Amino acid sequence: MEQIRYSDIRYSVEELDKWRLAGKISAKALHYGAGLIKKGSTVLEVVESVDKKIIELGAKPSFPSQVSLDDVAAHFCPDSDDRTVLDTQVAKLDVGASVDGFLSDTAATIDLSGNNSELVKASGDALEAAIRIARPGTVLGELGRVIRETISSYGFSPIINLSGHGIGRFKVHTSPTVPNYDNGDSEELFDGQIIAIEPFATSGSGSIYESSNPTVFMEVSKKPVRDSSVRLIFAEIQGYKGLPFTKRWLSGKFPSFKVNYALKHLADIGAIQSFPPLVERRHGLVSQAEHTILVREKPEVLTRMS
Ligand code: CO
Repeated sequence: MEQIRYSDIRYSVEELDKWRLAGKISAKALHYGAGLIKKGSTVLEVVESVDKKIIELGAKPSFPSQVSLDDVAAHFCPDSDDRTVLDTQVAKLDVGASVDGFLSDTAATIDLSGNNSELVKASGDALEAAIRIARPGTVLGELGRVIRETISSYGFSPIINLSGHGIGRFKVHTSPTVPNYDNGDSEELFDGQIIAIEPFATSGSGSIYESSNPTVFMEVSKKPVRDSSVRLIFAEIQGYKGLPFTKRWLSGKFPSFKVNYALKHLADIGAIQSFPPLVERRHGLVSQAEHTILVREKPEVLTRMS
């Protein structure tokens, strides 16, 4: 099979095409979803429409689409009975597409009040500044330095305990960690590497904590399960192939009380990991921008619209 050769990594032409397609589909879904984020809509309507859009475009969600509001930086995914209504919030939409396990991850912020455009620009410009230098040989700490400097120039702080990440087949998060400040990491980017860069800017302290009531989960270990209804739900979860999923997807197929019991049990035995909403420590507003990038001499932004 013909191979595209980078210095440290090889993809077949087919594989790279799938990665590019996943990027394009998530770009379209993000654009579509951003248009749905309007005063009076519910978060539930938005995420369900975006998940559906990704499927219509020929992919599957890399993870359940999420809309995190104001001081929630990430990982808010509504349950089927959630009634959160969009009004004047700072809304982060985070989406990804999977084409045969080749994944993309992209996010944007919609400022519904119109009063936080600088905050939105801070994370957006930080992302662009980092992309400009995301070429082979750039050290990870340097990406973080550029992100922090850009966000600080707007008078905001980066969230330092959130970071970008590598992306692998059926793996939303792999090494390396792409920091949002100069953490001193001297590891170099390499030709052909696929990474997601995701600066978060905040008017708060610049760190998040994990809150409670997670709705996003991911299988991490195939533990044996005795209870027959838990086993049935775990079998369904294994259909997600190690990609994150949300409770809502299961509640459509199994009674809610069984889903709740199974998720708690599976988390307790270490079969699944939970991702609770991440909240800014001082409840500052948070903006986010994210792209998936193929590292090359001229970095290729896989999740760019055109
Ligand atoms: Co990401």
